[in-house]
Amino acid sequence: MRLATSLFFALFIYVLLLVITVEGQIDVDKKVPAIYVFGDSTADVGNNKNLPAINNPADFLPYGIDYPTKKPTGRFSNGYNVIDYLAKHMGFMESPPPYLPPRNKTWETGVSFASAGSGILNSTGPGTLSMAKQIEYFAKVRQDIVNKFGQEQATLLFSKSIFLISSGGNDFFALFSSNINLKFYYDFISNYDKHIKELYNLGARKFAIIDVPPVGCIPGARYVNLKNLTHTDGCLKILNSLVGLVNSGVRSLLKDLKSSELRGMEYSIGSSYDLVLDIVDHPHHYGFKAVKKACCGSGRLNVEMGCDETSPYCSDRDNFLFWDAVHPTMKTAQVAATAFFSNSLQFATPISFKTLVDIGN
Ligand SMILES: *[C@@H]1O[C@H](CO)[C@@H](O)[C@H](O)[C@H]1NC(C)=O
Ligand SMILES: *[C@@H]1O[C@H](CO)[C@@H](O)[C@H](O)[C@H]1NC(C)=O
Ligand SMILES: *[C@@H]1O[C@H](CO)[C@@H](O)[C@H](O)[C@H]1NC(C)=O
Repeated sequence: MRLATSLFFALFIYVLLLVITVEGQIDVDKKVPAIYVFGDSTADVGNNKNLPAINNPADFLPYGIDYPTKKPTGRFSNGYNVIDYLAKHMGFMESPPPYLPPRNKTWETGVSFASAGSGILNSTGPGTLSMAKQIEYFAKVRQDIVNKFGQEQATLLFSKSIFLISSGGNDFFALFSSNINLKFYYDFISNYDKHIKELYNLGARKFAIIDVPPVGCIPGARYVNLKNLTHTDGCLKILNSLVGLVNSGVRSLLKDLKSSELRGMEYSIGSSYDLVLDIVDHPHHYGFKAVKKACCGSGRLNVEMGCDETSPYCSDRDNFLFWDAVHPTMKTAQVAATAFFSNSLQFATPISFKTLVDIGN
């Protein structure tokens, strides 16, 4: 129960980065004028700290211990997350700041809607910002930009910007901790379809999507296997199979949308699914030594007593695939961003994030 709950509240969202010059002209000379990020704990940079219903906003050490300030930021990592590294590849310092708390922000420098625990489905992660809610907030930001710079400039800005989506893992945790629901596949894909279309209708053209990781291989899932199911610390294969099926569905969906309804749409899917499985199979190839247990926490697989203020944590964090029972280390985030940008296309389809960024520039 406790594990299911912590898994449920563990994942995240996305970010919005806008770069507009001080004269009020949108800077279209930059390769990526803006990054708009939507997602879960893989992307959250602090929104959940401002959501009253959330009991773990990761705003305590040792979260953040390897961040430049050595302080927690609300990121579910020992330092940067994957969005930070993707933003770096696009010429930014890190992810844009979180949308919450509500205050007068300069939208021109970007904003993040990412909320840990949220999912593609509205019902996933009660109290978090669901994908639908994040898109609602984006619509507000968009209106502010239109008011400030005019429709024409805003349209140009959005068409050149990258819309990053990293979500879905929590929907599987929710599914796993309730009854397997035969409608799940349909609900997930139809909601994904709706979200993409809404963003497109709000001006998005370039989508960088991170697929759902093999959540059956996180230390928390291995622990369930160890304690309750097969009594081994292997990956929960059934959960991974379901994720694989849904990831294929999302690939087909995007291919169909691009070739039919959503004219001018471009996309790349970075496969955290393929990457994490490859790391698990060939840890040394990536410089990892520990791929099963968490760095932070104690007990079996360092999962039994989760990662909190009093937890022990490893000192060789770059050797670990996982930081806590659910989330990757900063090192893993860096490896993932590099993999998605690589033109080798081993972990990105149908084009790399790099090619996506370069289109139209
Ligand atoms: C294992 O199963 C028991 C009873 O079926 C349940 O109470 C417990 O929460 C489960 N543990 C985990 C880690 O899922
Ligand atoms: C935001 O800016 C407006 C106009 O400049 C001002 O009236 C309002 O008080 C500001 N709100 C906050 C929360 O600072
Ligand atoms: C999800 O929530 C949004 C509002 O945030 C609502 O507009 C939408 O209809 C909901 N979708 C479903 C399938 O309930």
